[in-house]
Amino acid sequence: MELAISLKRKGYAAGEYRFKGKGCIAAAFFWAKAGKRLEGWEAFGYIPVQANGKGILRMTGERGIPREADQICIRSIRPDFSKTEEKFFPIPEAFRPGRIQGTDITEKEKIRFLVISDLHLTLRRTGFIENLWKRLKSRHFDGILAAGDWVNDGIPEQFEALKAGIKGCLEGVFITGTAGNHDYPEKPIPYAGSEISGYPMFQDWLGLRAGDLGVEWETDPSGIYRTRIKNLEIIGVNGAAHWRRLTLGEEQLHALERLLEEGGESRRRLIICHGPLAAFTPRNRNGKGKIYLDRDRELCRVLENHKNIIFLSGHTHFSPNMPEGSVRRSAQGNIYLDAGSICTMEVKGREELIPGSWTEGVYFELKMGEDEIEILARSVADDRIFPRGYYRFPLD
Ligand SMILES: [Fe+2]
Repeated sequence: MELAISLKRKGYAAGEYRFKGKGCIAAAFFWAKAGKRLEGWEAFGYIPVQANGKGILRMTGERGIPREADQICIRSIRPDFSKTEEKFFPIPEAFRPGRIQGTDITEKEKIRFLVISDLHLTLRRTGFIENLWKRLKSRHFDGILAAGDWVNDGIPEQFEALKAGIKGCLEGVFITGTAGNHDYPEKPIPYAGSEISGYPMFQDWLGLRAGDLGVEWETDPSGIYRTRIKNLEIIGVNGAAHWRRLTLGEEQLHALERLLEEGGESRRRLIICHGPLAAFTPRNRNGKGKIYLDRDRELCRVLENHKNIIFLSGHTHFSPNMPEGSVRRSAQGNIYLDAGSICTMEVKGREELIPGSWTEGVYFELKMGEDEIEILARSVADDRIFPRGYYRFPLD
């Protein structure tokens, strides 16, 4: 077996991995250290091997090489599937991830969140969601952030079940998020008199709960709210409404602008909004992505007038395993994460070998220190790490 690696930037996985191995039909690529595959990490690519023994894996996007990796393990399989073989190749020294800048951050100094999206709770799936809460709670993070579509039909019964699950399984855990289009009933008429039990009431309940946990929380009349954990400001933008529309009112835009002006450039902020921005959606092509929000351009302009923003969105149900990846950085250095979905996902793209596990629901870990951010996707099924959902960037 031979492997020729040509990477582009230190610490980043994008590039070409040219494999040569006679007598095999397919190969899987794993990150490794000192002759062992990284434990708990799935493969970062699968390729078919041609009759001449050659195959190429092309990685795009801004995915990182795990900080502990110094090798690539290739596992190949014989054409009759009778035998697999593993071989380890060094990651070229110049491209190995190192310390990004400044001093090392201890685990204690980091702010750590779990990011989820698109739970689509129905009364038949409450057990699944409650199990998820219990598992997330056991991971000991500073909080859980949900990018919308908490429930599937926006009806009071679903919000009541959601609240009961949170009360029962997430005692003492800070959780917040934003509204998705499924958090409002498709047709508002039958529920017009009982909106009190819908999403707005649920958000108020989250705010009161945050207060009980000693977390600052402030709701603006426009519907936007602001909360703060350690030094990080979290702003929830409600970009959804009846008829399953993704819409952002003028008032919220003004309120957002005001909140961003207030803290100046230095304040680091996390903004949660269900609909992704066209310019930074994973499937965007040269800056031209599908437009989801009705005030996409205006929101983009407001955000890109500022720095130090981490924008979390959902809605697309795109897997982080798709070639384009789920994180984009803007020219301003702002970070846009498409948080995938807790539900099963579709994997689009032209890759020839796609394992079924890549369609599994995911949640993200987001860890922030003074000068770096690490984002990592895990399978909802069993917490396995998807290396295609791993990102690491310096922060200003
Ligand atoms: Fe959704």
